[in-house]
Amino acid sequence: MRKIVIAIDGYSACGKSSTAKEVASQLGYSYIDSGAMYRAVTLYFHENYVTVDNPKDVSNALDKINISFVFNERKASSETYLNGLNVEEEIRKMYISNQVSKISAISEVRKSMVSQQRKLGKKKGVVMDGRDIGSNVFPDAELKVFMNAGLEIRAERRQKELLEKDQLVPIPEIEENLLARDKMDSERKENPLVIPDDAYILDTSELTLPEQVEYVLQLATEKMIKH
Ligand code: DC
Repeated sequence: MRKIVIAIDGYSACGKSSTAKEVASQLGYSYIDSGAMYRAVTLYFHENYVTVDNPKDVSNALDKINISFVFNERKASSETYLNGLNVEEEIRKMYISNQVSKISAISEVRKSMVSQQRKLGKKKGVVMDGRDIGSNVFPDAELKVFMNAGLEIRAERRQKELLEKDQLVPIPEIEENLLARDKMDSERKENPLVIPDDAYILDTSELTLPEQVEYVLQLATEKMIKH
């Protein structure tokens, strides 16, 4: 069977990463969390006081940023590194979630991340999740899935994830962040969050993770046979 590119896009916190991670693991594909890349840039900008409305500052900063993913055998999951430091935990914190949509709307930031993402997916055999993977990063991806779920359920799932990392965040604060990000991500000028015409739409409100994974795996198998 030929290797394909699987693009999983959708609104914030509707299960994209968990699904994409498991699909990749079952297919022996690599998994790229494109949102983690924008989060790592946001962390760098935050720590280095980058003036976001100064294009020169932004491009100087981008030159100094190196993002990589390293597989953690113990956690059976890949973790995000920023300039050689493991930032996986830090980038999931609320202060990053509250800034990331603003940073990811900057044109220079998008250009740099999209070009790295294309390199990472060049050899195929990759599952990448994000907001513009099927519409912009890999418009020719063999399989595109667009995920969504009700706001309440998304907030509950995100609260559980944060609690597992010892962060207690009230539901209204999470909901506010999700709504604000969905709005900014959908309304930004460059590569906004859109549903690609050829995407399969998956509402995960009533689904378990194994069911979501099974849905994507079935489609992937069909596409791998066809291509
Ligand atoms: O997937 P996530 O929630 O960790 O993504 C964080 C933010 O990064 C999201 O609110 C918008 C931005 N993002 C993006 O602009 N394009 C992508 N392909 C992935 C994420």
